[in-house]
Amino acid sequence: MNHRGLVTIDDLADEEIEEIFRLADGMKPGQEDCPGRSMAAGKIMATLFYEPSTRTRLSFESAMHRLGGAVISCPDMKSSSAAKGESIADTAKVVSSYADVLVVRHYWDGAVQAMAEHAEVPLINAGDGSHEHPTQTLCDLYTLRKEKGELKGLTVAICGDMKHGRTIHSLVYALARFGVNVIILAAKGMELPAYVIDRLDHLYHYSPIAVPSGDLNSVVTSTDAVYLTPTQPHQLALFTQSNPYLEGQLSKAATGLKLDAFYVTRQQKERQTENGSGDDTEYPRIDERFLKIKRFKETVVMHPLPRVDELSPEVDKDRRGIYFKQAAYGVPVRMALIKYLFDAAEAKKPHPVRKSSLLYENPELLGPQCLNGNCVTRKETPSTHPRFEILFTGPGSGLILRCLYCDHQLRVQYIGHATTKRYCSYDLTLEATVREWLKGGELALFDSIKQAEEQSYEPYKTGPQRTIMSSGEVHEAIQKMAQQILNDTPESASLLVLGIRTKGVFIANRLVAELGHEGRNAEAREIEVFGSREENHGAPSIVTLEETEPLNIKGRSVILVDDVIHTGRTVKSALSIIFKSGRPQSVRLAVLVDRGHREVPVKPNYIGKHIPSSEGERVRVKLREVEKDEQDKVIIYSMINPTITRKQTLTG
Ligand code: CP
Repeated sequence: MNHRGLVTIDDLADEEIEEIFRLADGMKPGQEDCPGRSMAAGKIMATLFYEPSTRTRLSFESAMHRLGGAVISCPDMKSSSAAKGESIADTAKVVSSYADVLVVRHYWDGAVQAMAEHAEVPLINAGDGSHEHPTQTLCDLYTLRKEKGELKGLTVAICGDMKHGRTIHSLVYALARFGVNVIILAAKGMELPAYVIDRLDHLYHYSPIAVPSGDLNSVVTSTDAVYLTPTQPHQLALFTQSNPYLEGQLSKAATGLKLDAFYVTRQQKERQTENGSGDDTEYPRIDERFLKIKRFKETVVMHPLPRVDELSPEVDKDRRGIYFKQAAYGVPVRMALIKYLFDAAEAKKPHPVRKSSLLYENPELLGPQCLNGNCVTRKETPSTHPRFEILFTGPGSGLILRCLYCDHQLRVQYIGHATTKRYCSYDLTLEATVREWLKGGELALFDSIKQAEEQSYEPYKTGPQRTIMSSGEVHEAIQKMAQQILNDTPESASLLVLGIRTKGVFIANRLVAELGHEGRNAEAREIEVFGSREENHGAPSIVTLEETEPLNIKGRSVILVDDVIHTGRTVKSALSIIFKSGRPQSVRLAVLVDRGHREVPVKPNYIGKHIPSSEGERVRVKLREVEKDEQDKVIIYSMINPTITRKQTLTG
């Protein structure tokens, strides 16, 4: 159930934010004549913080007390039943019956949305992974407005870790909505994610404009609503103490520009799990020299805090350093928000009207998955119902989906019709067809042909099928491969048979059973390959190892198993993730069918059968574990004409 809460900053309309600010102006925390002094009397707030916090948590708790309400909490979620494996969905459901509002911080992107779907009371996002932190944005906007008056037309430079900073993501959306010019000065390797830029463009028509040195002034003064991003962000790391050249670059770029605020952020080291975690020496820093630059005489310095070393305490002494005021406003702003949401619930005020969007939910067991490894849909499947907004884009882009939990985007290449169980590759001529099927609840989307065919979808327009391996041949091939593995693997080796999901897993299990018959122990595990392209970069498939239990690869003899190998891309991606996960003793590859025509140099060690086949042909392995009422077999058939135009009878 989704009550009127605050999960993303877009859950509040502009007028509602203004109304909250009016309420905050009137709040006098702790004073006898505070207007809302007992408005929350008899009400309870539960604070569930799965991540550390000082400001957000304590200012929420203070705000609730100041309004006459009570607070219940878990001092540390590690001491809640989350530690015993309780899902976030169950936690939200249960705590809903103890409190009237939940305030949640979580380390997964989209976790708060997932909990809001299961809660029976309003839920407020106190920060979810790298995704959003909408109440921090309310404090930031409120502070900016207090200091500068009108928001519209202001120019704010935001500097630091744009990639992982959830405060930044909510803030840039809100600044765009209020007509603030935004200059992004990202630390090297921590640029604003593509999905944030796309959303700024899609919803608020803020487009990135690369600003070469010296051009900044003319661009900013020529329009009210401009989002600026430097061509080479790290060159604009203005306050890197060690590099006067870089300082000079920004100085030139910003000549004549009136900066109203400089918003500094901490490097989010706790979220930097991937390679490019950035170089500390290049991280933008502000020190007392900033205060001496004439151009910044009226530029206030903001920071959501906590700070580490990107903002010198010297700035604290200057009137322009307003970040402690920004933190202090947390109480009146959150008092105002609580009052607003309670009143809205009582008045049954609906959510702000959003632009109509095309929402898609997989009708099949398997379908596109969010590619963001930290998305709640990937971390805790039972608490979520993966849903996407379909975004149609320009030529050659495929079909773009936006995850409704974390906003990350992915591209899908294959569309299917759920009733006729047919699929084809998507192109722009099929947009109307997609809309029609979606409306009728018939649209199925797939990351790959493999995913479509594993769910018994057939391509449109195919020739006759031929069986190329019978049940007996499949059995013999697996027995033969098991024997070869046995001969090649020393007794002492710790054997790990990794099946590529889905059919590779069943073949891996059968191999392990065959090895067991010969008295040889081996562990069977799964590896998942999904996503046709990495977000916005056209990179090959993403692969993850199953995350339910830690997988120890180090020093082991790994047999990677798939049903069919053709181009070799899937296997190559699987190999790369294996090597990222640890250093195995050896990795060998077993496939039931080798179609040849490799695009990448991958050579299987164990092959059930060579079946040289052309691009236009499809080879499908049918296994009894997957197919209802069918024996094992391998079939081949031709794609006669995979290109379909809108007017043709796709549903036939
Ligand atoms: N700004 C902010 O979210 O601070 P805390 O992490 O201390 O809550």
